[in-house]
Amino acid sequence: MTPTRKLAAQGKVRDIYDVGEDRLLLVATDRISAFDVVLPNPIPDKGRVLTGLTLFWLEKTRDLIGNHMISADRRDFPEPFGIEPSLAGRSMLATKAQVIPVECVARGYLTGSGLKQYRAEGHVCGVPLPPGLDEAHRLPEPIFTPTTKAAEGHDLPLTFEETVDLIGKGLAERLREITIALYERGGEVAAERGIIVADTKFEFGFAGGELILIDEVLTPDSSRFWPAEGYTPGKSQPSFDKQFVRDWLDASGWDHEPPPPELPAEVIDRTAAKYREAYEKVTGESFDHFRHLMGVMSEHDWETCAVDLERLRTEHA
Ligand SMILES: Nc1ncnc2c1ncn2[C@@H]1O[C@H](COP(=O)(O)OP(=O)(O)O)[C@@H](O)[C@H]1O
Ligand SMILES: [Mg+2]
Repeated sequence: MTPTRKLAAQGKVRDIYDVGEDRLLLVATDRISAFDVVLPNPIPDKGRVLTGLTLFWLEKTRDLIGNHMISADRRDFPEPFGIEPSLAGRSMLATKAQVIPVECVARGYLTGSGLKQYRAEGHVCGVPLPPGLDEAHRLPEPIFTPTTKAAEGHDLPLTFEETVDLIGKGLAERLREITIALYERGGEVAAERGIIVADTKFEFGFAGGELILIDEVLTPDSSRFWPAEGYTPGKSQPSFDKQFVRDWLDASGWDHEPPPPELPAEVIDRTAAKYREAYEKVTGESFDHFRHLMGVMSEHDWETCAVDLERLRTEHA
C-alpha cells in the first residue's frame, strides 16, 4: 500500500483519504448521525444526495468564495480509487485545507438549538433578538451563530467575542460576512424552487494562503430545508432534512446517549425518500439522472457500497 493513500479520518458520515499532494478524497457514506451519534442503519444513497447537492452549491457560490473541489469524476481519482464503482457519485477529490476550528452557522429563522437558547436567554450566540419570537419565526435579518467544532460530542455555541478570542478579529469578521453572504445566496436559489433554508452550517479552511469553503454545502445534513408552501410560523415545519429521523428518535424515548436504537425499515425508506426529494427539489433535476451521470451502474448498489467502503477503510487503515 502506498503511504500516500491512507484513511486520514473517519467522520460521522465521511471517510477521508489522504491521497498525497495536499489532496483528500472525501467519501460520503450512507451513514446517518442524529444528535451527534451515528445511527446503526445506513440510509440508501444518502451519501450521493449529499455529494450531488454539494456539487450543485459549490457551482452556485463559486463567485463568492473559492472552494476545495478538484473533481467528482471517478476517472480523475488516484489509483486504486478510480476503479471502485461504489465511490461513484459519493466522492470528491478536494484540496486539503487547514480547517478553521469554528462551525459557521447562519440562521434566517428561529428553530432547534437557536430557539432553545433564545427562549432561555433572549439571544442566540450573543446576538440579541427582539422579544416575542417563536418556533419557525423569520428573523429580522440573517444572523451568524458560530459553534465550536467538537472532535466528539456536541458543538457548543460561541459568541462573536469568543470567536474572536479563538481565531482573531479579522478572520472572525471575514467568516461572519462570507457565512451570511453564502446563506443569502442559498436562500435566493432555494426560494426559486419553493424552499426555505431555515439555517445552515459552513466550514472553511486555508489552502495556499487563501480562505476557501470546504466540507459539504447546503445539504439536508448541514441545513434545515422547509417547503415555502404552507410555511406557518409558530409551529414546527415539515422538512426535507433529518428532522423526520430526529422526531422518530425522540418519540422512541431514546435519551440521545449511545447506543442509539435500530431504525425500522419504514423509517429508513422514508428518510431515504426525503433525502432524494431534497436533491430533486433544490436542484430541479432528477436524482436518477445524477446517479446515471456520475456513472453509478446499478439501481440498487447500496449494500455492495457499504461492503466496498468498509473494505477500502480496512485496506487503507
Ligand atoms: N478540504 C478539506 N480539508 C480538510 N478537512 C476537510 C475538508 N473538507 C472537509 N473536511 C473535514 O472532513 C470532515 C468531514 O467528515 P464528516 O463525516 O462530515 O465529519 P464530522 O463527523 O466531523 O462532521 C470534517 O471534519 C471536515 O472538517
Ligand atoms: Mg460533517
